[in-house]
Amino acid sequence: MSDMNASLTYEVHAGDIEQGGSASAALKSELRKMGICEEQARRVGIIAFEGEMNLLLYATNGGTLKAEVTPEAIDITVEDDGPGIDDIDLAMRPGYSTAPDWALNLGFGAGMGLVNMKRNSNFFEIHSHTGKGTLIRCRVNRRKNDAAD
Ligand SMILES: Nc1ncnc2c1ncn2[C@@H]1O[C@H](COP(=O)(O)OP(=O)(O)OP(=O)(O)O)[C@@H](O)[C@H]1O
Ligand SMILES: [Mg+2]
Repeated sequence: MSDMNASLTYEVHAGDIEQGGSASAALKSELRKMGICEEQARRVGIIAFEGEMNLLLYATNGGTLKAEVTPEAIDITVEDDGPGIDDIDLAMRPGYSTAPDWALNLGFGAGMGLVNMKRNSNFFEIHSHTGKGTLIRCRVNRRKNDAAD
């Protein structure tokens, strides 16, 4: 089962705090069913959760969380169509956050989400254009002997 290819896509709605974490939880549970090892499922779960919460909190129209599973890796894509990030270096800085007060009161807004996504990835890239949207790609390798694992 674990060398089957799969593509899993979840829509994340803007501002829907009640649903916060449900897409990443569903993804993690699918990965477990597919026999993805615990360590990799855990890393994908963190990446997906942080990506999902950012879509919920910042993307005007929500966005999409996607995972492609191959025997080599799990590729996670988090995509939205705006508002985009003006200064990516600043957004990537630990502790930087523009989370609204209501989100801070719920324990979000530590400014660690993007950092944690990168930290848990073997490969990480972020592209963003103001007014256009944000695209984040993260790869978690499945082969233990891959560099950086
Ligand atoms: N998809 C996005 N669209 C627009 N801005 C974003 C998006 N994702 C992140 N940002 C901006 O980057 C900042 C840093 O994001 P990051 O996930 O690292 O921290 P946070 O969401 O503020 O706090 P935490 O994730 O620790 O709860 C956000 O506060 C926000 O300003
Ligand atoms: Mg975040």
